[in-house]
Amino acid sequence: MLNIALPKGRLGDQVYSMLRDAGYDCPAYEDKNRELVLESPEKGVRYLLVKPSDVAIYVEHHAADVGIVGKDILLESGPDVYELLDLNIGKCRMAVAAPKGYVEDPDRTLRIATKYVNIAKKFYSEKNRDIEIIKLNGSIELAPILGLSDVIVDIVETGNTLKANNLEVIEEFKDISARFIANKSSFKFQNEIISDMMNKLGEAVK
Ligand code: PRP
Ligand code: MG
Repeated sequence: MLNIALPKGRLGDQVYSMLRDAGYDCPAYEDKNRELVLESPEKGVRYLLVKPSDVAIYVEHHAADVGIVGKDILLESGPDVYELLDLNIGKCRMAVAAPKGYVEDPDRTLRIATKYVNIAKKFYSEKNRDIEIIKLNGSIELAPILGLSDVIVDIVETGNTLKANNLEVIEEFKDISARFIANKSSFKFQNEIISDMMNKLGEAVK
């Protein structure tokens, strides 16, 4: 049985639809009770519903064989997994944003609020900028409104959240989308079944 770590939520639902259409349907997934382990023995798959930011952890530690995860999370945590396919969904951009009209003072330490500490550090180290990072876990847009930070580093999809909070993009610096990943030893020992799934997903992406 192949263990698939699916992110809970809208992205997971989209990916499940792709997998269902590719032949890996799971009636239990469509039941939508609170179960987190959903098996489809006839199809040889078991879906694990995990928090999106935890998918790569399950795959890296071999609690799941494959998974679907945002490139933002792969860039942030750098897990030791194979990134097999860009699914071309869950598309957004990694960006720096600030209150409308914000003008940076290059002589002062720049205060950045973000969930993406490593991505922000890397981005600003390439700019040789003196920074202070304030790590938050969500609602990042609040930070500059309350003066907790000067700017934020976060993903932007429609831009609606920024707009609703009087913020604007200063710079977009990375395209993000969902990726199909595999545990390295699973990929070696269950290569046929994982390659088959990858090829079918690849067809669906086209
Ligand atoms: C994400 C992200 C932005 C927003 C971007 O937040 O952190 O806030 O979505 O989407 P948009 O450009 O379409 O508005 P999410 O809703 O996941 O909430 P959280 O940051 O509070 O976890
Ligand atoms: Mg948000």
